[in-house]
Amino acid sequence: MNGFAIACDILSKIYKEDAFGSIELNKRIGGASNQAVVTRLVYGVLQKDTELDYYISKLTSKRPGRSEAVLLKAGLYCLKYMDSFPDYAVVDETVEMCEKIGKRQLKGFVNGVLKSFIANGKTVELPKDRIGLLSVETSVPSWLVKAYVKQYGYDKTKEFLSVGEFTKEHIRNNSRVWTLNQLKSSLDEHNIQYIESEAGGLFVDNTGYIKELNAQGKVTYQSMTSMLAVQALELKDGEKMLDACAAPGGKSVYARELADVDITACDIHEHRLDLIRAYAARMKTDGIKAVLCDAAEYNEGFDSGFDKILCDVPCSGLGVANKKPDIYLRASMQKVEELSKIQYAILSNVSRYLKSGGRLVYSTCTTLREENYNIVGRFVKENPAWHIVRHKIYLPDGKGCDGFFIAVLEKNG
Ligand SMILES: C[S@@+](CC[C@H](N)C(=O)[O-])C[C@H]1O[C@@H](n2cnc3c(N)ncnc32)[C@H](O)[C@@H]1O
Repeated sequence: MNGFAIACDILSKIYKEDAFGSIELNKRIGGASNQAVVTRLVYGVLQKDTELDYYISKLTSKRPGRSEAVLLKAGLYCLKYMDSFPDYAVVDETVEMCEKIGKRQLKGFVNGVLKSFIANGKTVELPKDRIGLLSVETSVPSWLVKAYVKQYGYDKTKEFLSVGEFTKEHIRNNSRVWTLNQLKSSLDEHNIQYIESEAGGLFVDNTGYIKELNAQGKVTYQSMTSMLAVQALELKDGEKMLDACAAPGGKSVYARELADVDITACDIHEHRLDLIRAYAARMKTDGIKAVLCDAAEYNEGFDSGFDKILCDVPCSGLGVANKKPDIYLRASMQKVEELSKIQYAILSNVSRYLKSGGRLVYSTCTTLREENYNIVGRFVKENPAWHIVRHKIYLPDGKGCDGFFIAVLEKNG
């Protein structure tokens, strides 16, 4: 089973050392011949984490330690979802991994768990309650399913949690380099099919040619909803714009393409300012000033200084968990509550930087109202000079739309 040991090692870093899935994968698999298997196994286990955890809870009398849980998850995933591996090979390889990680005393235990899963027809008794059942069926943590059902109702929750994986990428043309029609002609010449999105970007398969165009700055990977958030600012030439939480700079760079605006792009992390500069350089964009600044702290120099403000706040990222499944490993209601305090502090502070008659867009890539409507709703309630022009929650639809929230706020003149 080529790649199993590497995948287990990567998973162990993610589960035990809190490494990020995509970063760890990129570090380890570049050019490897078994790249496809390792990627499938790592992403597969992360995507099915809640389901696999449930299987383990039903197949064992005592919760296993983290090292053996990682091996069991990899083994159970292969047995359930990777038909190309014979069952005996999966069991042998997983048992052998105990030896490799210095836990030979666990060989019998791991062997027993996997064999009883096989003997049981590769299933276990499913939860009787509908939240628990939906949680296992969609592999989304039960605390989150519960919160979603409270917010959206059961049917809608089931619908958006059950959408299949969408494998295409959304790209945006760089109109500074060539026109959208030129990009389309070039894609036609390379036999690359595309579907135009409601934001004006294109859904494409991420072929080598697309990667090349991205590296050359002729296109950039940017989600449809990210583009919509910038469009919601309705930028006009000559305006001053603040991007309060800007790194890596995707929205600032797009804003400069939409209009000749003067942009101050802030971030709290110095090293992330370099990402903004690198993004702007790749996309041949000028007019963006990257500034180190905590958006939750008052900066007198910014007071009433901007016509437009983008508040793309740090969030739990639950709306993009389909693409980054390790987001579920890190999320909890407590973290959502902590984030919501930061989000409110950022919005309240940054609102002071808007000129009267200006516009502020608040956005997140998450789907819980605690980080979305509750923030802007509380803000306008406590600040009567402000009103919400419109707001919209986007839910994953399996056709390229991520979970995302956009609220347009204005201060009365
Ligand atoms: C959702 S990301 C922004 C993505 C960016 N707008 C884009 O489209 O490329 C949130 C960013 O906020 C930054 N951040 C977190 N807390 C902040 C704070 N208090 N002030 C300013 N930036 C902050 C993070 O470092 C992160 O880069």
